[in-house]
Amino acid sequence: MSTIVIVGSQWGDEGKGKITDFLGKDANIISRYQGGDNAGHTLDVDGKVYKLRLIPSGILYKDKVTVVGNGVVINPKTMIEELNSLKESGVDISNLKISDRAHVIFPYHIKEDQLQEEAKGDSKIGTTNRGIGPAYMDKASRIGIRIADMLNPEVFKNRLKETLDIKNKEFTDLYNSKPMNFDDIYHEYSQYADQIRNMVTDTSLLLNNAIDKNENILFEGAQGIMLDIDQGTYPYVTSSNPAAGVSIGAGVGPNKIDKVVGVVKAYTSRVGDGPFPTQLDDEIGDFIRENGHEYGTVTKRPRRVGWLDTVVLRHAFRVSGVTDIALNVLDVLTNLESLKICTSYELDGKEIDYYPATIDEIKRCKPIYKELPGWTEDITNIKDYNDLPENTKKYIETIEDLTGAKIATISVGPNRNQTILKNNVWKN
Ligand code: GDP
Ligand code: IMO
Ligand code: MG
Repeated sequence: MSTIVIVGSQWGDEGKGKITDFLGKDANIISRYQGGDNAGHTLDVDGKVYKLRLIPSGILYKDKVTVVGNGVVINPKTMIEELNSLKESGVDISNLKISDRAHVIFPYHIKEDQLQEEAKGDSKIGTTNRGIGPAYMDKASRIGIRIADMLNPEVFKNRLKETLDIKNKEFTDLYNSKPMNFDDIYHEYSQYADQIRNMVTDTSLLLNNAIDKNENILFEGAQGIMLDIDQGTYPYVTSSNPAAGVSIGAGVGPNKIDKVVGVVKAYTSRVGDGPFPTQLDDEIGDFIRENGHEYGTVTKRPRRVGWLDTVVLRHAFRVSGVTDIALNVLDVLTNLESLKICTSYELDGKEIDYYPATIDEIKRCKPIYKELPGWTEDITNIKDYNDLPENTKKYIETIEDLTGAKIATISVGPNRNQTILKNNVWKN
């Protein structure tokens, strides 16, 4: 039995969905533990592309249980739309379980997200506008409404009244904006409650029972460690903990986690605002963006792209216990004459090998690079590590050397089959 956590090692969109789907074939349960529908996880299987937001990337296997854990913030409208679209594609969703303790995203959270961003002006975070931050705020302020509360009409009515009163005061008095209508929200969400009622359970109990039975469990992180509210580029982060949130967000003890796989994009991308030392604003950046179709899954915004940064990776691996790497989108770098990997930064004339805490310092960091030769061979159909071009292997081994973690999988295309298994994390 093993429990493996999949976590994004950069600023999100590293291909967590693809790797969760790939490693999921050996799991009994696949569970999300943080984030919400700000996530967009892409699966490319049997000629079909699926874009998942809240539903775990194990959903395509009909014999597996998939879990939305208590640490996820759930917009039931989006979730039901996603489930309907999966059903229309012939996906069996009957084994999905939703935590009774997960917090619910309401329309007032989305409105707050927009108003907060507008108020910040030039310092805006560039959020996905899904109400994620405000929903986690309410959880921490103890005015949030959980799935279990929403399922009980009386409790729901009282909780919603109390919270909406607070929100409406904020909208009218602070933001000079319109209040929201209680009846509209109550009726809409009561319908959602009825639609998901049968899937709701104590998912921590379910997961711990499965651990006791020696089952294989895969935990699927959303976002990435550099977007972690504690360990990321604060304040340009999301409002949850992709890094080590698994224990809290799934309700399993930290001693029950066996392995953490860090998903690494072979270069770096970032959507939204905030510092990004290795960003490329030149024709190489344009080449990578177009070749890698680097446009946001959720917001369709063009992603900022840059060279791989191992200062970021070492920080990310350290704070979340990554031992194994799933290296993705390597094919996108094919045909570049030479490739650069950032090994350290120069900060105010001194070389540093750690990621500074403040935005101010990060902005002053100049990347120091190691340059490697590129390759031109098509690698998209390679199935065996030894068949990769020598320069590709050199690039991969340099990443291992600079981070101290070992490569588990190498992805050479978006499809489930375009994956080279170097080290089986379920066994080794
Ligand atoms: P996630 O949020 O970490 O699950 O990643 P996204 O799905 O948002 O973004 C990753 C994008 O890269 C998706 O469009 C994937 O289909 C695509 N992708 C994943 N792995 C590979 C790969 O090895 N090669 C290429 N070309 N695309 C990939
Ligand atoms: P996946 O799981 C990339 C970014 C937003 C913004 C910041 C805060 O697909 O990797 P939020 O709406 O969470 O308050 O936005 O975080 N962001 C992501 N960037 N991938 C994601 O998810 C992201 N989820 C949030 O762009 O900069
Ligand atoms: Mg994504």
